[in-house]
Amino acid sequence: MRYVSGEHYFTAEPTAPQRQRNVEFDVDNRTYRLASSGGVFSADRLDLGTSVLLHKAPRPAPDTKGALLDLGCGYGPIAVVLATAAPHATVYAVDVNTRALDLVRENAQALDLNIVAQTPDGVPDDVRFAEIWSNPPIRVGKAGLHELLSRWLPRLADDGVAWLVVSRNLGADSLQRWLDERGWSTERHASQKGYRVLRVTRSETESRATATV
Ligand SMILES: C[S@@+](CC[C@H](N)C(=O)[O-])C[C@H]1O[C@@H](n2cnc3c(N)ncnc32)[C@H](O)[C@@H]1O
Repeated sequence: MRYVSGEHYFTAEPTAPQRQRNVEFDVDNRTYRLASSGGVFSADRLDLGTSVLLHKAPRPAPDTKGALLDLGCGYGPIAVVLATAAPHATVYAVDVNTRALDLVRENAQALDLNIVAQTPDGVPDDVRFAEIWSNPPIRVGKAGLHELLSRWLPRLADDGVAWLVVSRNLGADSLQRWLDERGWSTERHASQKGYRVLRVTRSETESRATATV
């Protein structure tokens, strides 16, 4: 259930009861058991879109250093998988929902992972990301989604890659067109169970322009 007591899952400070619970899922031949709670997105089970993303997109190399971003992290299923795959990287887990951020901190600590859970304004401006992973908050509306991506995608490193999962019914193809129109190079990497996994990089011309600035 994505809505809690009339609140959206992207409420900054949910008033829905905490009701702590666990979400268990298998990825990369390992079982994760994460703390979750009322008032966060897909609190009872790994979201189907997130599952498609985690099963279809390739992990960052194990020796990746620098920063990775889980944009709209919820209780942190993507962040913990990234931090496990790339233990020398710093994974920023970003969300507007402070309860979700507390859960990410709890999960990172329990698994001894290098994850920095922060609100969007808490991430230093000069951090650039080797990879951005996101199951973005489609329910904020098209304008909100575009604003979110316009804020974070430009922070990709020149050779960085973003992996986005979006439901076909909730506008994956129109999002892909919008990204292409804005000069991103967007590839439909996979399609499964009604979701598209988009691979987004800087276009050749755009990277050359950034490199010469
Ligand atoms: C579709 S959920 C995905 C959550 C989590 N990654 C998962 O897979 O379970 C999108 C998340 O984006 C968060 N969100 C909404 N607006 C945001 C914003 N402006 N900046 C960062 N996160 C935002 C929501 O609170 C929500 O947790």
